[in-house]
Amino acid sequence: MSTTIDLPILAEAPSPAPFPNTSPTEATGDGRTVYIETYGCQMNASDSEIVLGVLDGRGYRSVDSADKADVVLLNTCAIRDNAERKIHERLSALQHLKKGNSDLVVGVLGCMAERLRAKLLEKELVDIVVGPDEYRTVPDLVDKALHGDKGIAVKLSRVETYDDITPVRTEGISAWVSIMRGCDKFCTFCVVPFTRGRERSRNVTSVVDELKALQDQGFREVTLLGQNVNSYRDDVSGADFADLLAASARAVPTMRIRYTTSHPQDMSDKLIDTMAEWHNICKYIHLPIQSGSNRILELMNRTYTVEHYFERMDRIRAVMPHVAMSTDIIAGFCTETEDDHQRTLDAMRRVRYDGAYMFAYSPRENTKAWKMGDDVADDIKSRRLQEIIDLQHSISAEINAAEVGRLHDVLVEGPSKRNGAEWKGRSDTNKTVIFPHIGETTADYVVGDTIRVRITRSTSATLFGERVE
Ligand code: SAH
Ligand code: SF4
Ligand code: F3S
Repeated sequence: MSTTIDLPILAEAPSPAPFPNTSPTEATGDGRTVYIETYGCQMNASDSEIVLGVLDGRGYRSVDSADKADVVLLNTCAIRDNAERKIHERLSALQHLKKGNSDLVVGVLGCMAERLRAKLLEKELVDIVVGPDEYRTVPDLVDKALHGDKGIAVKLSRVETYDDITPVRTEGISAWVSIMRGCDKFCTFCVVPFTRGRERSRNVTSVVDELKALQDQGFREVTLLGQNVNSYRDDVSGADFADLLAASARAVPTMRIRYTTSHPQDMSDKLIDTMAEWHNICKYIHLPIQSGSNRILELMNRTYTVEHYFERMDRIRAVMPHVAMSTDIIAGFCTETEDDHQRTLDAMRRVRYDGAYMFAYSPRENTKAWKMGDDVADDIKSRRLQEIIDLQHSISAEINAAEVGRLHDVLVEGPSKRNGAEWKGRSDTNKTVIFPHIGETTADYVVGDTIRVRITRSTSATLFGERVE
């Protein structure tokens, strides 16, 4: 995933924002300020925009740092132990703010809120705890907290999709749109089915209407989000994910369409063909393999074999030869042997991913795998993970080196972080491309334009090039 898993994505809303969800009788925020800090995956980034949408509707104003805020919310992740540890540390660091301002409301939202529930309220500092399906309650819980009452809302829902809430978006040209929520796959290592509940999808019309509004507002790229986007199903029209993609591509021809994340079991021929058919659907697929060993995949309840995965990959590449691929890999799952690990490395050599998100297995309480034990010693797990990372770096570097001389259509995002004389953008294949910027007055492109760039050099993470007319 482009998921900067475990990295805080700071969600700062433009202010003053138009408050599309305002209803005059409900404006209780009274100009109070809220700061939300987001951890975990893109679903959380998108949810934070929904929470800000709910709060905007009640008269709250969003600010860009905790010390300017009346309400501080942490939207959290529970996927691995270190993701939760980070939140405990952050909460400790926030203690000084609360000491200086006893009216400050501190809330924990998201997957860790859902997993730990009332346990989080035992921390003196925490006033409210809200799970992913209860974000509509945030304003009321904040009101109560201001009167000294702690509050919790962690019920999961079979129907909540927030499709009537207008998210407060922060990115200039690129937007997240959640199209489905929850996960029914129950991989044995994973907390998501417990923290996010059952799968449910928005209908095609509501998604397409949102995309058209985004296009009108000047957004140039959208990422359709779900824990398993390709198990999307519109119960009203019967549309599947391929149908939704085609309807989206048709509705917003000037926008690039991306999606994440997909499951190998649901990677149908129809979906692959639909991607190939539409020029504005990006040729980039994140398809987590997790392990190259069938024995481990079975223990993980991934529901596919390595052979199935390779067959899907071959089909994808036959139809889209220049597609970019990324994956997720877990090192050191219970009972993983040296032979299993070698199979993972072999699978990586066979597929040759453009990029990968690689993790050491972290046992999660109440999952099936928790009961299987965590029997791969830490030093072995770390060594295997390092071998996976090293192999991926060398493959990424080789793949990117082969890009030299090629042309890419790059969506211009703005100045690069390191050097003001250079700008950055992203290729259709989701690679960051850096190019010299000739200055505001002479450049004939602006942020949001698509320009053609010839690649001149590369690293394992980045392509560098020059604009060609
Ligand atoms: N729905 C997505 C994954 C979401 S979680 C999918 O199935 O592809 C993102 C990634 O975190 C997973 O793909 C997996 O590689 C990793 N992950 C999940 N649980 C984990 C655990 N207990 N320990 C280590 N990595 C884990
Ligand atoms: Fe977790 Fe598996 Fe669902 Fe992905 S498909 S969210 S790994 S249970
Ligand atoms: Fe983390 Fe929840 Fe996403 S556990 S990865 S924030 S769905």
